[in-house]
Amino acid sequence: MKKGFFITFEGIEGSGKSTQMELLAAHLSKKGCFVVTTREPGGTRIGNEIRRILLNPKFEEMDFRAEALLYAASRAQHVCEVIKPALDAGKVVISDRYVDSSLAYQVFGRGLLWEEIEKVNRWATGGLKPDLTILLYIPAEEGLSRATESAADRIERESVEFHHRVQEGYKELARRFPERYSVVDATGSAESIHRRILQAVESRLPVL
Ligand code: TYD
Repeated sequence: MKKGFFITFEGIEGSGKSTQMELLAAHLSKKGCFVVTTREPGGTRIGNEIRRILLNPKFEEMDFRAEALLYAASRAQHVCEVIKPALDAGKVVISDRYVDSSLAYQVFGRGLLWEEIEKVNRWATGGLKPDLTILLYIPAEEGLSRATESAADRIERESVEFHHRVQEGYKELARRFPERYSVVDATGSAESIHRRILQAVESRLPVL
């Protein structure tokens, strides 16, 4: 039985997810919550090995289905080893990316079928869904220019059109799941974005 609260952060590259996750985690810890922060792909020993394969630019030949399955495999391990036990223990779990990344990148970016990716991920996660998804929204060009300031990984090397499709995918996800989505303007200072996120979280998380 799930007792905790599951928050996911989503958004295109360079939307500032990791900074904002840390700020939110610090705020919630101060309020007395037990918080676990984690990320995908990764979050476990096995997941981190899978992450190395997924992001390594040398694997140019990776088939889109193999890619989708590797993300789902990392996620299955992540749910079983980290997310579910923490939720069962009543903690707040904040994950940098989750199933919606596969819907945005593998479905809208790569062109795989929604029904298939949704089904594989439902199986991989045992149907575990976030209670709240914060979509950090930033124009694709701005995000990409921030992200590629460091060495680009296999996905970041994709075309601007690919990242525009991913962005459209996220808009569609927010339209389909309004009950758990909160779209936050991710332009401006880190402090102002943090305040917007707190407003979104405060209305849903009872302890705040
Ligand atoms: P990461 O360095 O964590 O990027 P970011 O800081 O933008 O989150 O790399 C994760 C990359 O993998 C990112 O480009 C998005 C992509 N991705 C997918 O394509 N599908 C997925 O299911 C997940 C979790 C990530």
